[in-house]
Amino acid sequence: MHRDLLNVSYDENAIRKRVIELGLRLAADYAGKNPVFLGILNGAFMFLSDLVRACDFPLELRFLRASSYGASVVTSGTVKLTEPIDSPPLTGRHVLIVEDILDSGVTLSRIRELLLGENPASLRLCAFLDKTSCRRLPIEADYVGFSCEASFFVGYGLDYAGRYRNLPYIGVLKPEIYETG
Ligand code: IMP
Ligand code: MG
Repeated sequence: MHRDLLNVSYDENAIRKRVIELGLRLAADYAGKNPVFLGILNGAFMFLSDLVRACDFPLELRFLRASSYGASVVTSGTVKLTEPIDSPPLTGRHVLIVEDILDSGVTLSRIRELLLGENPASLRLCAFLDKTSCRRLPIEADYVGFSCEASFFVGYGLDYAGRYRNLPYIGVLKPEIYETG
């Protein structure tokens, strides 16, 4: 375990097992629909790459970049999006937003609003972690890896100030790391 962590909350085995279960559920819901999986960068890169390998049906991939934290453990409330949707438009497509973690819901509410403007055939949300008690806006994920407590997690794509994304497991960051900088 990395020394900046308090614990390992979800180890590689638990993650692998859960991703396979999600892939089976997605296959039941999306096979034959050629959905667009829209990954939210940077955090979702690792989950998305595992998830698509667990999805044994045709799909397309797109990416969107969002950031609301900067070097902080509390969401700023303002979401920065780069060029939101690349062409062709998502009109008539079945779209699944894939996100690392759903926290206040500010980021995903904003993204959902933008995507709905493109008139997709359907729009659902898949988040690997769900901090259910932290919501500031009413938004729920249709597919969730794990519901978790309100701690600050890193690893498996999740970062603090750009670090720890490459850890293959997820753990709680020691508060002294962000309290002292
Ligand atoms: P929201 O807009 O508050 O729902 O925040 C969503 C984004 O905040 C996620 O995509 C993450 O990038 C980031 N985030 C929220 N909680 C955590 C955490 O525990 N660790 C790392 N990043 C987090
Ligand atoms: Mg993110």
